[in-house]
Amino acid sequence: MTSTVITGIGELITNDAELGELTDAALVCEGDRVTWVGPAARAPAADSAVDVAGRAVLPGWVDSHTHLVFAGDRTAEFAARMSGEPYSAGGIAVTVEATRAASDDELAATLRRHAAEAAAQGTTCLETKTGYGLTVEDELRAARLAAAEVDEVTFLGAHLVPPGQDADEYVRLVSGEMLDAVAGHVRWCDVFCERGAFDAEQSKRVLAAARDRGLGLRVHGNQLGPGPGVQLAVELGAASADHCTHLDQSDVDALAGSETVATLLPACDLSTRQPLPPARELLDAGAAVALASNCNPGSSYTTSMAFCVTTAVLQMRMTVREAVRAATWGGARALRRESGDGAVGVLRPGARADVHVLDAPSATWLAYRPGVPLTHAVWRAGRRLR
Ligand code: NIG
Repeated sequence: MTSTVITGIGELITNDAELGELTDAALVCEGDRVTWVGPAARAPAADSAVDVAGRAVLPGWVDSHTHLVFAGDRTAEFAARMSGEPYSAGGIAVTVEATRAASDDELAATLRRHAAEAAAQGTTCLETKTGYGLTVEDELRAARLAAAEVDEVTFLGAHLVPPGQDADEYVRLVSGEMLDAVAGHVRWCDVFCERGAFDAEQSKRVLAAARDRGLGLRVHGNQLGPGPGVQLAVELGAASADHCTHLDQSDVDALAGSETVATLLPACDLSTRQPLPPARELLDAGAAVALASNCNPGSSYTTSMAFCVTTAVLQMRMTVREAVRAATWGGARALRRESGDGAVGVLRPGARADVHVLDAPSATWLAYRPGVPLTHAVWRAGRRLR
């Protein structure tokens, strides 16, 4: 196994409680793991050395919420929205039709292209969902294709009741035959618990069936208006409640008193002209917060975690440290990958060697220089990607 020492780190954010934040630091990777972190002056020798000349280093972004198994384009829908049309869950059906019509090769190529685009911007751990198939065969295909390309796969058969189908019949299909078909390819199950998609009772049926099959749970909730999604996520012990745009105090308190991560998706809120989520209230109440891109062709067509961090700081009153932590450690926590051997979202001995070097002396530049591409170098599992 070869080792690399990264020297000349001006500012190192580790997200590790003991290591904290270091200046004039170095970091050693061996194989796919971090093996040493500390002051540059005490760095051990390694097979090769990379001097990052005073730049800031952080864990690679952990994007814990995307929908990348899709085909087709919704530019016109987006343009109409920017002219005042409201976003509606019904738009999902447009992508479902295009996705069903695409070949495996087309879907895999699109998924790979977006995963590569994300990696080039510092995303080193990526979750993606099914949910644009909505038949047993198409959801299984999406799960299989996703499992070959990304770190974590979530089954989202309960994304929308396919047009023309009976809702209860569809929920029966999702929580029975469809779940059985995909369960071997996914770790998580999600539901879109929202007016126009699935109500609390239907969502609960799907999630309970998934839990019975050993899957972890996540919930899309409170995206387009107040609703039961967040409370349901907490009640069922879901790993994350995603969106969290329209929360009341009882939702904030429920998240703060739970192990459920509030995953905020600011690029989606901006792209659908929704308010931004109450990040400050969540953090002040003690909730665990993640930031994710929600990359999908309808409500949030970006892979840029830096954009989410910048928005969180400039418009959601998060500090730079809070936003960076939410986009790294927070995402890892939402995927239950923040601790133990091979952890992501942290830089400590034993963690996966997912390293993001910014072309900046400090992570503060992510907000101080909004919109400027700042990724200088990326290692994923010890392999240099750029
Ligand atoms: O997270 N909320 C539901 N699903 C996606 C939207 C998908 C779409 O419009 O295609 C989301 O925003």
